[in-house]
Amino acid sequence: MSVITSPGAPTPAVAAARERSAELEHLVARNPAGYRVLTGDRPTGALHLGHLLGTVANRVRLQNLGVEVFLIVADYQVITDRDDAGDLPATVREVLLDYLAAGVDPARSTVFTHSAVPALNQLLLPFLSLVSVAELERNPTVKAEAEASAAQGRRGTSGLLLTYPVHQAADILFCHGNLVPVGADQLPHLEITRTVARRFNQRYAAARPYFAEPDALVTPSLTVLGDDGVKMSKSRGNALELRASEDQTAAYFKRARTDADRTITYEPERRPEIANLLRIGAHFSGTSPEALADEVGPAGAGRLKALVTEAVVEGLRPLRARRRELASAGPRYVADVLARGNARANEIADRTLDDVRGLMGMRY
Ligand code: TRP
Repeated sequence: MSVITSPGAPTPAVAAARERSAELEHLVARNPAGYRVLTGDRPTGALHLGHLLGTVANRVRLQNLGVEVFLIVADYQVITDRDDAGDLPATVREVLLDYLAAGVDPARSTVFTHSAVPALNQLLLPFLSLVSVAELERNPTVKAEAEASAAQGRRGTSGLLLTYPVHQAADILFCHGNLVPVGADQLPHLEITRTVARRFNQRYAAARPYFAEPDALVTPSLTVLGDDGVKMSKSRGNALELRASEDQTAAYFKRARTDADRTITYEPERRPEIANLLRIGAHFSGTSPEALADEVGPAGAGRLKALVTEAVVEGLRPLRARRRELASAGPRYVADVLARGNARANEIADRTLDDVRGLMGMRY
């Protein structure tokens, strides 16, 4: 889940994770086969530009480097903070179309859903015994999410919201994922996963550690703001969906917030909305935000928006064409990709759960 984080100086934990991530990038480039990535998304809607530039493109990059990638469509996470999960089959299909269109290759990457992999979910039970309620209640991301959900007038924090970081430990550890590309807001969860792995080993596999403690990969990525100037997210309704048409894309940037200064300059702290447009435009036209600002200069926000629209429309053209092609191929193709992913995830999860039961003395 992504919470809305305010920009500013990174905390020491985030700074440390970034440093470690830079090291990891070298290690991964040298030995991609030594890593298995597990990450994913909550299927709350079709993916948007923030997903692509924040995480999805990075996963495709890792896949193309030769790292084995597991992508979880975390359907049980949808109900952590809402009663109505919406039309899940339709949403899951949209997310899959976005993955595939963005370059996720089902021959190399495994896409699966929580609910189709019972053994993964069963790992939650022993894992829950390894953490205290106080540890769960301290998790800053869960706290922020609980507050956000209370602010929307919902009754108290659900047990599933409080424990979903442990569920994520199961998501990661069932397949022995050792590299987790995440945003900074997910770092506290990764700490819980590391704690679960460590305590499991101490308690049940002291002689020969069974779970490796995974690393977070916090790759420099773009935090994309929505048209209201706040971090792009489905739930705020400020997102540009990847599947949007060219007209919708143009309309989206037309209504994007700017500021009162005429001349375009790249000043991320003082002019976040303009900086956001410059970063998006620069990303898709292969230039830097500074250079793009110089190019537009006195022509102002209208000109900037026109350039950004053009760059995004051009940049997303292949993805959108592929998406349309996949969508019109009928429901079978995407359903088959998911069925194969689920089968593979089940095979691995069954093996891990069997190992875990053996180590815990529960194989009868
Ligand atoms: N909570 C993550 C998000 O919304 C999705 C997710 C579920 C995940 N399980 C995970 C991410 C395991 C990393 C590892 O973005």
